[in-house]
Amino acid sequence: MAFLADVFDRVKPSATMAVAQKTRELKAKGRDVIGLGAGEPDFDTPDNIKQAAIDAISRGETKYPPVLGIPQLRQAIALKFKRENGLDYKPEQTIVGTGGKQVLFNAFMATVNPGDEVIIPAPYWVSYPEMVAICGGTPVIVEAGIETKFKLTPEALEKAITPRTKWFLFNSPSNPSGAAYTRDEIKGLTDVLMRHPHVWVMVDDIYEHLVYGDFVFTTPAQVEPGLFDRTLTINGVSKAYAMTGWRIGYAAGPVELIKAMDVIQGQQTSGACTIAQWASVEALTGPQDFIEERRKRFEKRRDLVVSMLNQAPGLRCPSPEGAFYVYPSCAELIGTKAPSGKIIQNDEDFVTELLETEAVAVVHGSAFGLGPNFRISYATSDELLEQACERIQRFCAALTR
Ligand SMILES: Cc1ncc(COP(=O)(O)O)c(C=O)c1O
Repeated sequence: MAFLADVFDRVKPSATMAVAQKTRELKAKGRDVIGLGAGEPDFDTPDNIKQAAIDAISRGETKYPPVLGIPQLRQAIALKFKRENGLDYKPEQTIVGTGGKQVLFNAFMATVNPGDEVIIPAPYWVSYPEMVAICGGTPVIVEAGIETKFKLTPEALEKAITPRTKWFLFNSPSNPSGAAYTRDEIKGLTDVLMRHPHVWVMVDDIYEHLVYGDFVFTTPAQVEPGLFDRTLTINGVSKAYAMTGWRIGYAAGPVELIKAMDVIQGQQTSGACTIAQWASVEALTGPQDFIEERRKRFEKRRDLVVSMLNQAPGLRCPSPEGAFYVYPSCAELIGTKAPSGKIIQNDEDFVTELLETEAVAVVHGSAFGLGPNFRISYATSDELLEQACERIQRFCAALTR
């Protein structure tokens, strides 16, 4: 009898974690590696939020929380959805979890049966298909390539829907492409979904506050109120408030679904860290102005990186609307020879040779279901970004036919 569960036949380890590990190993060997693999802001959590956690500890808020979250945070979440998204969720329609990641997992655990299909546009965040697979469902990957700026078209969505479709997973701005959908683009998709009442909509808005230029963020349940009763809207404090280590995410949706997620969470984590929940109350209800300051800094970095990458011979880098990622294509460089003598046959070879030759760590696009591309996270200092892009330019220029 096999010791490990059959689930390991279906699940892959995370490519982004593997890149982070390789970067650590090279650094330990003394190499000057620039890591552009991590998906977290380089800024610190604001002081008022840290203080709220310290105050919570001093008050003795150190016991188990209610499974669905402390009432003060659930109230703050309902107010956030109203204030920022025009969505009327009551506190009892909300759930607080250990990061957006656990909330997503919980929702799949609560709803996915073997054979159920979940439509996931590619490129996708690495965890989505794996979560679906762990829960016994079937990820249905639909490509949204560079020619549609990495956005799914209504026609492609329509084609992917079958009687077994349980969820359509929507993430805008996207990890890994940074693509964000306009109101009209969302409407195109929600019109399709209105014709298929059995399909539920799982919306991951975690990069909501990171959009650039005059782009206006909107979310499907806001664009099409007719979908409100079959939408789960997921968000969290990790990216907007630089709180990745606090592990607080949340969602709002129909009460029946939230009740099912309550059962799963009650048997799994018993709820998210009480102290981090108090810090999140301050994040959602305290001063918000630093979000705008940081957004502007990210926008400058995006412009720097896009411009420098487009000067690298053979790379093509669209300028995405949001998040802190770019997703350049290295299609023109497939078939070239690296300084080591190795032929670059795919995007994984490209990132491996880039790391070996120029010590810049990025993640290959095939890990996100669409290549040949690679993902750069620009959530790091301007100086390091400039150096990294110079190294990438030098690497591309050194590839020969
Ligand atoms: C698209 C997307 N969704 C959800 C998450 C989960 O974030 P957290 O669990 O920190 O809330 C991430 C984190 O990288 C992400 O990129």
